[in-house]
Amino acid sequence: MSKSTFYITTPIYYANSVPHIGNAYTTIVADVMSRYKRAMGYDVMFLTGMDEHGQKVQSAAAEKGVSPQQYVDEMAQVWKRLLLEFDIKNDVFMRTTEPRHKKGVLKFLERMMAKGDVYKGEYEGWYCKFEENFLTDLQVQDGKCPDCGRPVDRCREPAFFFALSKYQEPLLEHYDAHPEFIRPDFRMNEARRFVEQGLRDLCISRAKLEWGIEIPGAKGYTIYVWIEALMNYLTGIGFGTDDELFERYWPCDLHLLGKDILKFHCIYWPAMLMSAEVPLPKSLYNHGWLCVSDRKMSKSVGNVVDPFYLASEFGPDAVRYFLMRDIQFGQDGNFTEDNLVRRYNSDLANDLSNLIHRSLSMCKKYFDGRIPSGGAGSDAGSDADSDGAMPQKCASTFRAYCRAMDDLDFRGALVTVWSLISSANVFIDRESPWALYKQGEVEKLGAVLYSALETGRIILQMLQPFVPSAASKMLSQFGLPAQPADELHQQARWGGLLAGSRIALVSPVFVKRK
Ligand code: MSP
Repeated sequence: MSKSTFYITTPIYYANSVPHIGNAYTTIVADVMSRYKRAMGYDVMFLTGMDEHGQKVQSAAAEKGVSPQQYVDEMAQVWKRLLLEFDIKNDVFMRTTEPRHKKGVLKFLERMMAKGDVYKGEYEGWYCKFEENFLTDLQVQDGKCPDCGRPVDRCREPAFFFALSKYQEPLLEHYDAHPEFIRPDFRMNEARRFVEQGLRDLCISRAKLEWGIEIPGAKGYTIYVWIEALMNYLTGIGFGTDDELFERYWPCDLHLLGKDILKFHCIYWPAMLMSAEVPLPKSLYNHGWLCVSDRKMSKSVGNVVDPFYLASEFGPDAVRYFLMRDIQFGQDGNFTEDNLVRRYNSDLANDLSNLIHRSLSMCKKYFDGRIPSGGAGSDAGSDADSDGAMPQKCASTFRAYCRAMDDLDFRGALVTVWSLISSANVFIDRESPWALYKQGEVEKLGAVLYSALETGRIILQMLQPFVPSAASKMLSQFGLPAQPADELHQQARWGGLLAGSRIALVSPVFVKRK
């Protein structure tokens, strides 16, 4: 039987600046989800990439005195390095300057034109070069962009428009029929309110801007960068170039995006798809911002944190874990290095390492590095008045973990796993294997240790999507294959560790920081 597919995307990042940890956040979330879905047996397609056209890229290249293409080629190296640094396993790195993108964009535009949804008129209004956004008089405050606060330019130019207003009712109907289309719920309400206020047709061209894809038959006009960028979700999986691939993965299961680009994704994008008669994505999740002292981390505010620094200082796993654990996905969250260090020490170096490292060390010390037999008492340590033995706890934790992951509640999933970690640590302390050893209670000692080790193994399987490299290292210390499971259901079942098998070299993976 062929596997079910799961297509997940991040927004494609503007090529005009280097990444900050706020951008890396969306990509890390997408990677965690992709790894989880792969582990659950899905055929995953994970797309990320770069938005390389538009005025700000053209201006940034000009400032540097290089061609736009040269400029984006250099920037692409930086963004690709970010993926490597954070252990991101994407399937596609889409760049909008690729020929396959242009091919698909033209095909899509032709469909919109054939529908009679594109017409020529004149645009008069404001344009924010930094946000690449058309603005009305009402939106502009004191000549400045409401989003980034930079001065905006007045534009008056012949332009092409997309008949967005035609899709007002169909959009509202789609929202009503598919409550999971825009998440979280409060973002669905935001989108609905926006549409209900009335949609105006959308300017989709820029005159005299060379760095873009030219509108067929309209020399001197390029497609407005946002319109073209959105199409990357299609062109990156073969729209217009590889029908088989496209059919396999579209419609997209999950578009991840920051709340600042809701309007483009939740309103313009589905309307464009309706116009071109392409099925709509199943779900769009709008997440919150990483903030510093409650202000959005952004280059324009000047409060950005360098992800390359974080990765080299703390390692990718600690940063990934921190972002997923500390911030409730969907809400804004403050980033501080102090909190990162605190979580690193308490959760990773203390709780997790404590469980894994001491279980393995005791296995080495008391059983010469061979996994003891769980025996009849593989649920050793259960006592009638506690809330269940370790195998039951593992099973119920795994169920809660899956529910949380399927709901994109990453923090919830980690809290559940950490509660199992702490139960296992309490279990070890209570059963005191060191005392059993002294008393010569070898069978009970073996059963207790088996329970501790097996719980640790199951925990590591659940943590693979979050801390892939650390989880692999730890699993290899158990003498197990380090590569991620593709049958997590199977791997999370009690009894995976075989009595008599040998553990490998034991050394702590997270060491407490000063
Ligand atoms: N190029 C467009 C997206 C086109 S998608 C068809 C764009 N690029 S961006 O580089 O400015 O932003 C990319 C993503 O980074 C957005 O989802 C945005 O919300 C996210 N973030 C930017 N700053 C952020 C934080 N401080 N915190 C969390 N996410 C942040 O928009």
